[in-house]
Amino acid sequence: MQIHETIAGLRAARGKAGEVSTLALVPTMGNLHEGHIALMTQARAHADQVAATIFVNRLQFRPGEDFEKYPRTFAADCEKLAAAGVEHLFAPDEAEMYPQPQSYHVEPPPEQAGILDGEFRPGHFRGVATVVMKLFQIAQPDVALFGKKDYQQLMVIRNMVREFNLPIEIIGGETVRAADGLALSSRNGYLSAAERAEAPRLCKVLTKVIDAVRGGARDFPLLEQGAITELRANGWVPDYVALRKKLDLQLPSAHDSGLVVLAAARLGSTRLIDNLEV
Ligand code: PAF
Repeated sequence: MQIHETIAGLRAARGKAGEVSTLALVPTMGNLHEGHIALMTQARAHADQVAATIFVNRLQFRPGEDFEKYPRTFAADCEKLAAAGVEHLFAPDEAEMYPQPQSYHVEPPPEQAGILDGEFRPGHFRGVATVVMKLFQIAQPDVALFGKKDYQQLMVIRNMVREFNLPIEIIGGETVRAADGLALSSRNGYLSAAERAEAPRLCKVLTKVIDAVRGGARDFPLLEQGAITELRANGWVPDYVALRKKLDLQLPSAHDSGLVVLAAARLGSTRLIDNLEV
């Protein structure tokens, strides 16, 4: 695996290979788990070469969030990527990505980026869209893969690519879960043993919601409230549990199909998100 710390280095490698081969890009913030590796494997089926990126993007963290303590495990990540057969790793430092403070931004519309996670993390999707746009310009991939666990992020990126006519196919990877249902996430490492034992409840309450919808229940606010009540009763502080339309995450009407239930909730000091498609 070639490790590129500079934009010029990645571009040079891309330039040489670009005429003859296609590139799949898998952007990450590192601390790689099986969910990321599944994306690398999936990427392989879509292009001749796979490039991962590792960059903890300050722009998408709010003051007081976990930017400083976000786990940085570069050596272990490199081993996992090499074992997965990834050809290129782009791992810039902040000076390479933001040599001066970023003054141009990609501003996703509030109806996509100001709802759900965007309501609780204002500016988050602007930071994500801006860095992903930069990574796309730097790597010029043919295909890019993002996990469905960050469902709203995937929607924002798909819309950005469509509206800016970027010649990049966006592919969503299924969420990878631990045996007890907990969605794999770098933030799971923050959980104490007791919290880790409790954490699968998030997926369980979402499963109850989608089972009810599949069974014909149509009082969506009641289902959301039931999930919130169960989480609260078990020590969680939920930000939201929301049934939405898959395509644009807007509120569904009772006859809509193609739904997804999304949740974000804090367990102790750790904020977890998850979602399940109906
Ligand atoms: O999903 C992530 O890890 C990040 O939001 C991404 C897409 C790499 C942008 O920093």
